Amino acid sequence: MEEKEYEQTIRPRLIDEYIGQTEVKENMKVFIEAAKIRGEALDHVLLYGPPGLGKTTMAFIIANELNVNIKTASGPSIEKSGDLAAVLSSLEPGDVLFIDEIHRMPRFIEEILYPAMEDFTLDIIIGTEGSTRNIKIDLPPFTLVGATTKAGDLTSPLRDRFGIVNKLQYYTEEELTQIVKRTSKVLETEIEDEAAKELALRSRGTPRIANKLFRRVRDFALVEGKSIIDLEVTRKALDRLKIDRIGLDETDKEILLTIIEKFNGGPVGIDTLATSVGEEVSTIEDMYEPYLIQIGMLKRTSRGRIATQKAYEYFHKNKQGTLL
Ligand SMILES: Nc1ncnc2c1ncn2[C@@H]1O[C@H](COP(=O)(O)OP(=O)(O)OP(=O)(O)O)[C@@H](O)[C@H]1O
Ligand SMILES: [Mg+2]
Repeated sequence: MEEKEYEQTIRPRLIDEYIGQTEVKENMKVFIEAAKIRGEALDHVLLYGPPGLGKTTMAFIIANELNVNIKTASGPSIEKSGDLAAVLSSLEPGDVLFIDEIHRMPRFIEEILYPAMEDFTLDIIIGTEGSTRNIKIDLPPFTLVGATTKAGDLTSPLRDRFGIVNKLQYYTEEELTQIVKRTSKVLETEIEDEAAKELALRSRGTPRIANKLFRRVRDFALVEGKSIIDLEVTRKALDRLKIDRIGLDETDKEILLTIIEKFNGGPVGIDTLATSVGEEVSTIEDMYEPYLIQIGMLKRTSRGRIATQKAYEYFHKNKQGTLL
């Protein structure tokens, strides 16, 4: 099964199947219910937070719970005003338009979106140079659901047009354990409680990672002839994948150790750091750094990134970068 297909299979479809993010979920239930009672489109929703925490999943759940269609687009793929006009004019009343990576939408497209979001009208210029004219098209009321890993990159006029703004948080160990158990049910592969907990502990607070690791652990169990995933095979698989006991992978470790060993704990600029570990700046900023900050191993300062005392202790290093 392909990665995408796999994600589809295990993705919750109803809000009550969506584990964790309690506050977001409870609020969304109220807003969805109210929109349904009024018979109006739900207000525009912005979902932000690190990759793999369930933004796309939530967008689909919103549409499903509202009983409306969902059309999807991604910020960088909307290149011309016509692209946006096409998708907007295909909407039916109450539909959800999901724009992923909305921070990467070109600025002039964003400006076309403002009146669409506010008044459900589309103002576009048609024709070629010399003979252009403005046309105004009425759109049906719709709900824009925007998702981004980088809320800070959103312009304030765009941000202000979302009536509902939800920040997704890293999941707790208990929530991830439940997610792993749910996945095990959906995929009809039994997992022992302790093994599910171990997987949860080592998934960086992220459902996508928990599900991905589940799949790998399942492979190990299968090859070893185990019909139930137990703690032993789970630990073995995760060690083989070089996921450490708190869920850090090779890149996480390399980022921290580079700051400690090559830059004496920092501060080191993000560009220099990225070059040193051979990753893109955006990969570090979007995928790695948020979790390392969350667990208190890394700090972002105005002069660059620093490794915290906790990171030194975790790797048994002292300030000179040598082993304690
Ligand atoms: N609350 C949840 N309960 C159960 N499973 C979840 C939950 N959130 C996410 N998942 C699972 O994690 C996977 C990743 O979620 P999703 O694709 O929605 O993340 P995302 O925030 O959109 O990531 P990205 O920023 O990379 O687009 C999904 O396949 C889904 O099955
Ligand atoms: Mg997504």
